[in-house]
Amino acid sequence: GKGNYRHFMEKELHEHPVVLGDTLRQYIDPASRAVALPALPFDPVAVPKISFSACGSAYLAAQVGRYWIEQVARIPVDADIASELRYRDPPLPEGGAALLVSQSGETADTLAALRLLRERGQRILSVVNVAESSMARESHGTVLTVAGPEIGVASTKAFTAQLAVLASLALGFGRARGTLPATEEARLTAALLEVPAHAAALLEDSAEILELAREVAQARDVLFLGRGSLYPIALEGALKLKELSYIHAEGYAAGEMKHGPIALIDPTVPVIALCPSGPLFEKTASNLQEAAARGGRIMAFTDAVGAPALRRFAERVVVLPTVDPFVAPILHAIPVQLLAYHVAVLKGTDVDQPRNLAKAVTVE
Ligand code: M6R
Repeated sequence: GKGNYRHFMEKELHEHPVVLGDTLRQYIDPASRAVALPALPFDPVAVPKISFSACGSAYLAAQVGRYWIEQVARIPVDADIASELRYRDPPLPEGGAALLVSQSGETADTLAALRLLRERGQRILSVVNVAESSMARESHGTVLTVAGPEIGVASTKAFTAQLAVLASLALGFGRARGTLPATEEARLTAALLEVPAHAAALLEDSAEILELAREVAQARDVLFLGRGSLYPIALEGALKLKELSYIHAEGYAAGEMKHGPIALIDPTVPVIALCPSGPLFEKTASNLQEAAARGGRIMAFTDAVGAPALRRFAERVVVLPTVDPFVAPILHAIPVQLLAYHVAVLKGTDVDQPRNLAKAVTVE
């Protein structure tokens, strides 16, 4: 049941700290801070390429996974929407690995992509939340997100659990390949292990996100911007807002603004920016400043390090805990989910069962 929560989604949002902790503990030993890779159906040292395939939010988790694996393990990675991969006919290297990401393990397009990749000689690893699902059965190997049942149609804790697994895999691959020095591994695993506590703090005090939701609920169109591993989280923010509140929202890579979307900027279109401190901060901030100079109302998620610079032109700045840039996409996923949740509640939409959507899309 929902316990004391109004919606399953609210309950599931509040399960983030526990789910993230449980999932990370499967792959990272809290005492030694070392990553212990599960048994894999391929050798990460020899693998020539990783092909991700998934749908919806799971695809966006895969996109973050691509940034991580490329960065710390130096393996070439592709990430495709499953319904596109099926008809794209990509050349695949002998002995390549395919990673299928799915909460349900039953999504028709992802399952079809799995079968295609398997027929083409790829070694199949599925990242699923349901151990006895079709995808788990048809894969050479499976790693589990430990999110428990997710009832709300909009994915919340399963998405962040997917990120936790993919971050752990990336570090494990990097360790195996010798591309991630031990000191760096210890630093990044420590950062990951702190995420559950940060998530708890975020959930405890979401008053500012509720205020932001009041403004977003008035809008007809909303833009979400991010760079690097925050770009897929911008896409996720837009997807969540669309599916829950029926407000038109788009996510863009911040650097793409001047190639078209900046034409949309006016004071009626809130711009939600995911802009934590880190190597990409200055670039993102300058894209945001350009949007502000054209009348855009910038609502930024950042941390204490980034806040002062953004306050010069942003209308609202929500300060999240300061974390290593590697884990920032996990932490930023939570407020964008919370934002969509609060907007949906304000608009009175059906939060757990948005119109026209199914929890598992088992037809093409
Ligand atoms: O069960 P799956 O993870 O394969 O589902 C994939 C998508 O249908 C799912 O993530 C969908 O986009 C959610 N409604 C997003 O909130």
